[in-house]
Amino acid sequence: MRLLSLFAITASTLPIAVYAAEPHSYAQPDQVQITHLDLDLTIDFPQQQLDGQATLKLNWKNPKAPSLVLDTRDLKIASIESVSADGKTAPLKYALASRDKQLGSKLTIATPTHPSQVRIVYTTVPEASGLQWLTPSQTADKKLPFMFSQSESIHARSWVPLQDSPAIRFTYTAHVTAPKDVRVAMSAINDAHHPLDGKFDFDQPHPIPSYLLAIAAGDLAVKETGPRSAVYAEPSVVGKAAHEFEDTEKMIATAEALYGPYRWGRYDILVLPPSFPYGGMENPNMTFATPTVLVGDKSLVSLVSHELAHSWSGNLVTAASWRDIWLNEGVTTYVQGRITEALYGKGLADEESLLSARALEKDIGAMPANAQKLAPDPRGVGADDSLSAVAYDKGSWFLRTLEQRFGRDTFDTYLKSYFNHFAFQSITTEQMLAYMKPNLIEKYPGKMSWSEVQDWVYGTGIPKDAPLPDSPHFDAIDKERSAFLGDTLTADKLDAKGWNTQEWMYFLDRLPDVAPLPKIKELDAAWHLTGTPNAEIGMRWYTHAIDSGDKDVWSAAAEHMTRIGRLYLTLPLYKAFAKTPDGLAYAEQVYAKAKAGYHPLTQQAVESIFASAKTADK
Ligand code: BES
Ligand code: ZN
Repeated sequence: MRLLSLFAITASTLPIAVYAAEPHSYAQPDQVQITHLDLDLTIDFPQQQLDGQATLKLNWKNPKAPSLVLDTRDLKIASIESVSADGKTAPLKYALASRDKQLGSKLTIATPTHPSQVRIVYTTVPEASGLQWLTPSQTADKKLPFMFSQSESIHARSWVPLQDSPAIRFTYTAHVTAPKDVRVAMSAINDAHHPLDGKFDFDQPHPIPSYLLAIAAGDLAVKETGPRSAVYAEPSVVGKAAHEFEDTEKMIATAEALYGPYRWGRYDILVLPPSFPYGGMENPNMTFATPTVLVGDKSLVSLVSHELAHSWSGNLVTAASWRDIWLNEGVTTYVQGRITEALYGKGLADEESLLSARALEKDIGAMPANAQKLAPDPRGVGADDSLSAVAYDKGSWFLRTLEQRFGRDTFDTYLKSYFNHFAFQSITTEQMLAYMKPNLIEKYPGKMSWSEVQDWVYGTGIPKDAPLPDSPHFDAIDKERSAFLGDTLTADKLDAKGWNTQEWMYFLDRLPDVAPLPKIKELDAAWHLTGTPNAEIGMRWYTHAIDSGDKDVWSAAAEHMTRIGRLYLTLPLYKAFAKTPDGLAYAEQVYAKAKAGYHPLTQQAVESIFASAKTADK
């Protein structure tokens, strides 16, 4: 029962509510829970703030609860009132605690009468951790300003006061006022034909956790990609995006054939400006995506398979705490592979599994023991820190192992029943395992022992017999890389003309950490990697070139870092530069210019790289 706390133990006949201990939220779900959020927002571009009114419908659990405790970060609270069933309002007393660096400010609202609703009037600050505001000149088409949210993990609290824990689910409605010509999109059903009259209404009828609240607004055009899918993007980007994502309907149909109906209605994709700090975010009905996957050949559309897969693993069955995040990301990465395999073939799916498995094998040993576990022991706060390759790649590796042991048909049936059983619930790892034991492990004895399951979930490292796919292409690349490094093959003789994105990634991933400078020069002369339009390749290439001391790539690297704010593609370059005093000084100059275009999360991450480089110096 470690990590679970039991609350609400009343008469023995009543079901016992189990809540995951969630150290990243001040909410007290054993006392009271939000069941519905009604938002009224005005998007104020000149002030870079949201003017908000959040009306929370409450389900009181403890008749003696003295207060409603909410999460906030940097919100300016104007007033708080109770709203009774007949619409009467009365002011409520509240206290906003001082700001915790990780968690923000605990908001305690005195609620002696247990009102059915509470309304909070507030504004956000321009630096809100969950929002980015862009001026027209920072957009592709330079016409209108742009803003977007990124709530996962614990940033919803910076734009809505609420119980910011994935264990708590609520439906929401929203009324949003925006300047004329701007289109507003949210994580709910969106109407592609809505007039741009400055008034938008949204309804999310399914209960979702707070990290799936999302909003974006700007110069957004819409192009259909199927009967229930479209892409939203700036006008100059939308055509390219619709082409790249033309297989969306096939992806939805593939996932449905495996795991049951898509339950959310439409599945749209919003392509954000390049400062979006992640690759993708599975906001319900409206995946948010980085433009860095628009490379023209559909080679990076596994991102869509991934975010779509979250419609089952994550949005339908949700990790109840950030410690259980592998239930979202590991299961999703497995499902992503199945969609990729069905649409683009086993060869590509195996390459993607191998890329991540090989990278994990290389890195996992250097991680702290607790971080190597799928379900770690209780640890300090820092929800975004829990996002590591372990949740994604050890998690999906575990599921591929289960599939191999039990057979694809059996495992598919099991996984579908798991999604149905826990639909629209937030669950812990232990709840997942309690379902798996009778329904998979014991139902088909002799396939996998319980202690093997425990080793995958609670053990460190990667179990010894973890199966890896074969990839003849990757084997050939390993040989060519060795020959090239061993001076028996010159760079221009590498058989790389036909390499796809993943094959280049694999070639570059397994170059030595610091490759000899002449080898880097030779590669670039033969294959012109500097200036590549493919940022997955660029990130790997520039990192190697900087590590090898190749100053000739610095300006192209700076261009990559300035243009792209996606953490995963930009931070490795900052880290590479920060290893030498000259490099660090150069990266600081690049940052000084790039900073204004970066998301608050990217700014914070770059600044902490600089800070640790400087303390390491002393
Ligand atoms: N839900 C994640 C993004 C995320 C996780 C944001 C945790 C903040 C905290 C999303 O589904 C994701 O995994 N995105 C990946 C895509 C990739 C694995 C295809 C990304 O952003 O790189
Ligand atoms: Zn994900």
